[in-house]
Amino acid sequence: MVQAAAARAHTNIALIKYWGKRDDKLILPTSTSLSLTLDSFYTDTRVSPARGEDDQLILNGQVGGLQENSRVHDFINLFRDEARKKDYSGQETALCAAPIRVDSFNHVPTAAGLASSSSAFAALAWALRDYFGLADSMDDRILSTFARQGSGSATRSIFGGLVEWLYGSDSSDSYAYQIDDGNWDLGMIVVALSTEHKKISSRKGMKHTVDTSAFYPLWRQASEKDLAQAEAGIRNHDLDQLGRAMEANVMKFHATMFAADPPITYLTSRSWEVIEYVWDLRERGISCYFTMDAGPNVKILCHKSQATTLAEDLRTAFPEALVWQAAAGSGPSNIEKGEWDKMYGGIIDYNI
Ligand code: PMV
Repeated sequence: MVQAAAARAHTNIALIKYWGKRDDKLILPTSTSLSLTLDSFYTDTRVSPARGEDDQLILNGQVGGLQENSRVHDFINLFRDEARKKDYSGQETALCAAPIRVDSFNHVPTAAGLASSSSAFAALAWALRDYFGLADSMDDRILSTFARQGSGSATRSIFGGLVEWLYGSDSSDSYAYQIDDGNWDLGMIVVALSTEHKKISSRKGMKHTVDTSAFYPLWRQASEKDLAQAEAGIRNHDLDQLGRAMEANVMKFHATMFAADPPITYLTSRSWEVIEYVWDLRERGISCYFTMDAGPNVKILCHKSQATTLAEDLRTAFPEALVWQAAAGSGPSNIEKGEWDKMYGGIIDYNI
């Protein structure tokens, strides 16, 4: 065990979506999903002993809300349970039981459909493994099954590049692994049309869809076909094959919500404008494909070598949008104390 541990994890965007749980508590998905970990967006998280009596979350320097705190507390308990199985010295056993303070800095617009929970729970999982000294018994695949129980998409942020999260047979083998490092001519542009909190959380939206959508029974099978096509595109390093499969999948993802009762959608008229812009670019021979998540923002898969020009075009066409570009990012890494202090030492209030 260490006195404090810090980690950085990158966010990921699903190319083949996870949309539904078959077990709400363990967060077991109804289908296998596939994502690209992005280099531009990440969360930095540090865990250390807390001063008070409870676990505490400090998010971007602010004390976390009740709901966020309790989610983090439950998550920490998963690691405490693992740590209790180890043969620690007396001092370490006491530290195991002691409350933990979590300082987390999101370099992702929070809750804007950019899956900030993916990097948040992956960074927390990585730091907690270190804090409790669990590395011997918990390799990255096993760690991804823990990250999964914080937020489904976090399973995939335990790895860099193109990552698959398996349906699995139970909690132990519904893990993620890297299928390709993504270091070929592959890029992504994020067009953020709103950085406001989404109206329906992905958790609620997916449950409502599973419970009520007339199209949901078709989702799993259709998604498997899209996945097979996407995997072939990745094997061939063929952006068009991968992009076609990704776009086909996101259209079905939204269709499940159109068919929910009552219907829901995350698409706005502005999202459609960007989608049509992407389709126009394609008509003009530029390889680019869209996907979206539980928010109005649009992500565009494209050639990395064309991303700068495309991002400029999008900024001109949608001046009120925020446009970022990204490429394949790496898996999580530890942040050394000196590095952490340099970045955040001046802004953290350790007396909170
Ligand atoms: O991990 P959650 O509960 O935030 O759900 C993520 C759901 C989507 O982003 C819409 C799809 C995905 O596979 O990431």
